[in-house]
Amino acid sequence: MFITFEGSDGSGKSTQARLLAHSLRRAGHDVVETREPGGSPRAEAIRALLLSGKAARLGALAETVLFNAARADHLRVTIRPSLARGAIVICDRFADSTRAYQGVLGKMDDDLLVAAEAAVVGDTAPDLTIILDLPAELTLERLGARRETVGEAADKFEEEALAHHDALRQAFLDIAALAPARCVVVSAQAPVEEVAKRIFALVMDRVSPEAGRSAPRPAKNTDGRPKRQR
Ligand code: TMP
Repeated sequence: MFITFEGSDGSGKSTQARLLAHSLRRAGHDVVETREPGGSPRAEAIRALLLSGKAARLGALAETVLFNAARADHLRVTIRPSLARGAIVICDRFADSTRAYQGVLGKMDDDLLVAAEAAVVGDTAPDLTIILDLPAELTLERLGARRETVGEAADKFEEEALAHHDALRQAFLDIAALAPARCVVVSAQAPVEEVAKRIFALVMDRVSPEAGRSAPRPAKNTDGRPKRQR
């Protein structure tokens, strides 16, 4: 089973991904925790370049290419082998982040993002995507608290920042509306333990009792149907 966490910065994705991995391991499952950008040595090197801000100078298209290049390596080195051995893979951000961030912030054309995603992800789409949802005001509050930037500078950019976080939030909600079988929107406003309980319950509803224990995931055709075993 391939599970991804998505949502705005400050929504608690990383914490929830870690808590879910912990609960699933306690329930006896083999779990691989990973993240994007990153998740393999080469992809982590690309992450360092992207998050350093240096890649931004190359422009939004180059950044989009770099996120996808990192993803291709991450899938090849970490995700696909883990799924093939039957592990549950939990990934903190995945392709929906490119759709949201590069679409909204980079103003990349949706057709281009969809085509790149199809080429890179192929049939390794997540089985379940948990979108942690937070109103823009709360995102800003949490990020402000985290970065301790409350004050004049924060006030000055607040309006712009609100619009930015609101657009990102809406992008994730739109993705969820387009893929209701895969995506579940979970409010990130409740206390951490409550959100974790909710996520664990919805994962346990979907996880097969054998997932991550022994049975390897069957290979899929490009149309998503299981390949016939020879
Ligand atoms: P993180 O803070 O969740 O580790 O993610 C790092 C940043 O990278 C975050 O601001 C979102 C951004 N990002 C993209 O812009 N596009 C992507 O495809 C991914 C995976 C992350």
